[in-house]
Amino acid sequence: MSILPEEKPSPRLRKQKWKVAVLANIKDDNQPTPEGVPPDAFADFDHIETVDALRTAIEADGHTTVFIHADRDLPYALRKEKPDICFNIAEGLGGDAREAQVPALLEMLAIPYTGSRVLANGISLDKTLTKRIWRDRRLPVAPFQEFQFGDEPLRPELKFPLFVKPAREGTGMGVDMNAIVNNEKELRERAQYIVSTYQQPALVETFLPGREFTVGILGRADSKLYSRHPEWYEKDGFHRFPVLELDTGNTEGPWVYTNEAKSKDVGPEGNEGFFCPAKIDPELEKKLKHLALRAHLILNALDVSRTDIRLDEEGNPRLIEINTLPGLTPSYSDLCLQSEAEGIPYTDLVLEILYLGASRWGMIEPREIASETNNNKKK
Ligand SMILES: Nc1ncnc2c1ncn2[C@@H]1O[C@H](COP(=O)(O)OP(=O)(O)O)[C@@H](O)[C@H]1O
Ligand SMILES: [Mg+2]
Repeated sequence: MSILPEEKPSPRLRKQKWKVAVLANIKDDNQPTPEGVPPDAFADFDHIETVDALRTAIEADGHTTVFIHADRDLPYALRKEKPDICFNIAEGLGGDAREAQVPALLEMLAIPYTGSRVLANGISLDKTLTKRIWRDRRLPVAPFQEFQFGDEPLRPELKFPLFVKPAREGTGMGVDMNAIVNNEKELRERAQYIVSTYQQPALVETFLPGREFTVGILGRADSKLYSRHPEWYEKDGFHRFPVLELDTGNTEGPWVYTNEAKSKDVGPEGNEGFFCPAKIDPELEKKLKHLALRAHLILNALDVSRTDIRLDEEGNPRLIEINTLPGLTPSYSDLCLQSEAEGIPYTDLVLEILYLGASRWGMIEPREIASETNNNKKK
């Protein structure tokens, strides 16, 4: 039996304006990385500017906001601030499911929050587990094997070149050009480097030499009942953002989206450019969007996600990973670029995530779509 309140409508919160706490882990580029942790350990933490941008967007709709550091004092700060809802972008502090830590705490304290819940955030951080679940449901993934130590026998279906990365990181952490390994020696070296540096298993998978895309999903079956923009959603309640393709044209050799590349500004300055919408034929576009939505649904992700997909040697799409806490830095994060590419302003994107989240906690009166339709019929 559960003693925690489930997502019951709570009319107490059905007021027009909320107190919204933005929860994030913040990095300071001027602070040296502490000893004993990998140099890119805090790569997926946010800059305070992103928090400020979120607060400005939320306040534009008349709500009040407060920023709370998602550090070990978070439970006390939540008790003090008593937010109506939390806008969660916190990456968590460590362990094997850090992205699930803040949602777990909020559920324990019965505080509403945006986006995916505990399990989806925990599983999606673990790329091996995610791929096992997708594979079980017949979604296309590259052959893979998880190495706990680095000296396990390589399964015969894994043919060189292979790609080696930490099983539970983001933002290109542990990904550089040495991630591509061409023989046993390089494989062992890299896998052992990942295991010892990142203190977690190494995920070894077939190297996918083709084009790379990322596909954003927004919504839920009942989005239209709560959305500020019901026109964005298709019949099934989901919005598919335009596909974004990484521009691999300017680079030498097989391009990967490394931590270094992810930390730079996109655009003409560097060659980490992108195309959005991607220049792809409608059939591939449909396939990519279909896969991203299936990937989202199978993991029980909620409201927003971004799935990375690469083409294999034969040009078939293979799912790489899903981000259930996609970056939300305006004009920088992939999801924001996708949203901008179709003319959706940042403020509207942020408010949509807030409204979709709030609606799950009974904070918004559902729109009476059925009766609107009936009224129209009567006319
Ligand atoms: N199997 C693979 N083959 C080729 N490139 C890959 C493969 N897996 C990952 N990459 C490259 O590494 C990048 C980062 O990997 P990804 O799993 O998306 O981790 P992150 O969480 O760091 O974004 C991808 O964007 C892609 O460029
Ligand atoms: Mg990725």
